[in-house]
Amino acid sequence: MRSLISIEELSREEIDSLISTANDIIANPKKYSELCRGKKLATLFYEPSTRTRLSFEAAMYELGGNVLGFSEAQSSSAAKGESVADTARTVSCYADIIAMRHPKEGAPFVAAQNASVPIINAGDGGHNHPTQTLADLCTISRECGRMSNLTIGCCGDLKFGRTVHSLIAAMSRYENVRFVLISPEELRVPSYVRHDILERGGIPYSETQDISEVMGELDILYMTRVQRERFFSEEEYLRLKDSYILTADKLSGAKDSLCIMHPLPRVNEISVEVDRDPRACYFKQVLYGKYMRMALILMLLGVSV
Ligand code: NCD
Repeated sequence: MRSLISIEELSREEIDSLISTANDIIANPKKYSELCRGKKLATLFYEPSTRTRLSFEAAMYELGGNVLGFSEAQSSSAAKGESVADTARTVSCYADIIAMRHPKEGAPFVAAQNASVPIINAGDGGHNHPTQTLADLCTISRECGRMSNLTIGCCGDLKFGRTVHSLIAAMSRYENVRFVLISPEELRVPSYVRHDILERGGIPYSETQDISEVMGELDILYMTRVQRERFFSEEEYLRLKDSYILTADKLSGAKDSLCIMHPLPRVNEISVEVDRDPRACYFKQVLYGKYMRMALILMLLGVSV
């Protein structure tokens, strides 16, 4: 039995195969519509979510399966003091697979050690978010037409933004990928990402605070929200929240082939006028996320396609 806690647990071949399953689902949805008949997915969400939880649920429904779960800790026995380990053992009696989001780093890992069904990490604190990365990888493959020879700009809250950590880990495995990390000094990537992934892997990267100076180099611009809920002080959040706001003007020096991505939700780091730009890919990313979650559920449940 296999869980998915970190994107690094998937080999490149497995990621390629998930992307090709997602592409096949997009082309032939009917072929997949009964594959999880009789199976149940539980969504255990201890933190707010729109896309991740609903796309897991939509994914399971589109595979013919059913869904149960909770969307806030307060409505679960966590409010009475139950541990993640006990909740995972309990829900294993009701469901065939579990997607869990939790504010504490490592909680889905603890769940996986105690559950008797696969656990999918749907975001753990400021740490990892592997299924968002699957959505991102599918978007890159379909919209850029390649996974290698890319300059990827990551902009915003690179310290607490878990989607960026998982994206860097995944894209570091492809050939000739270079990262441009754009953030205020206070929100630079954590040292484990810098040392364990970028430096140890010999991956070229640069850091800057000025988005306009690097815009013309980028093949992908991955914008992120400043993660208010992970700040220690509201004052610090207010000071940093508008560090980057992408406008049509700021895109004037960008490549025509640029792919603008964002895991969403957006607060105001991308101006709505940019939505009309054909280079804006963030709502496509949402859709691809559902197909990649379908492919992942099939893989972890051992359903052959
Ligand atoms: C992200 C998350 O939860 O980390 N959202 C998502 O799942 N698409 C990004 C964010 O909350 O800023």
